[in-house]
Amino acid sequence: MRTLVFIVLVYVVFQIIFLSSSQCAKLSSNDDNLIEQTCKKTPNYRLCISSLKSDPKSATADVTGLALIMVKVLNTTATRTLIRINSLLHHSPSPKIKKALLSCADMYYNGIITADVPVSKEALTKGDPKFADDSTLDAAKEATLCEEGFSGNSPLTVDNTNVNNVARVTEAIVKLLL
Ligand SMILES: *[C@@H]1O[C@H](CO)[C@@H](O)[C@H](O)[C@H]1NC(C)=O
Repeated sequence: MRTLVFIVLVYVVFQIIFLSSSQCAKLSSNDDNLIEQTCKKTPNYRLCISSLKSDPKSATADVTGLALIMVKVLNTTATRTLIRINSLLHHSPSPKIKKALLSCADMYYNGIITADVPVSKEALTKGDPKFADDSTLDAAKEATLCEEGFSGNSPLTVDNTNVNNVARVTEAIVKLLL
């Protein structure tokens, strides 16, 4: 009888120690793993990691949360590009460049900031990732269309490439939810 009690006790104690240590392991490494696993499925691992880690909330986010963080990064990157476009417009560009800059601002970046980003955000929040997939893909295309408008003479190559990359990483994460 005593032996049995002892065995049960040892078993219970062992379980408690084992379970709590595995829980701890989960809490401390799961999130980093989720970020890494998710970023491995995107076309730009390094950009994905640095974008997600720029927001401390990524440490406890699920895949939807990670997608929402990328949408936020897309918003920031596109907004920064629009500010740049407006500043270039104030520095008397040539008529050709001016025309392309205006298209980028009025058509493409306006579309990303006032349509693609809010639609993606809402779709992800409401658990309807299909619309977020369409919108993030659209944002990637709009950055490319802006770039092409300069016919090889773009002052926005770095910005457009960056927005395109961020949008494609976002889209790849959204795809994991479909
Ligand atoms: C995008 O960023 C701007 C400026 O920070 C902010 O006002 C806007 O609410 C953001 N859009 C979304 C959909 O979160």
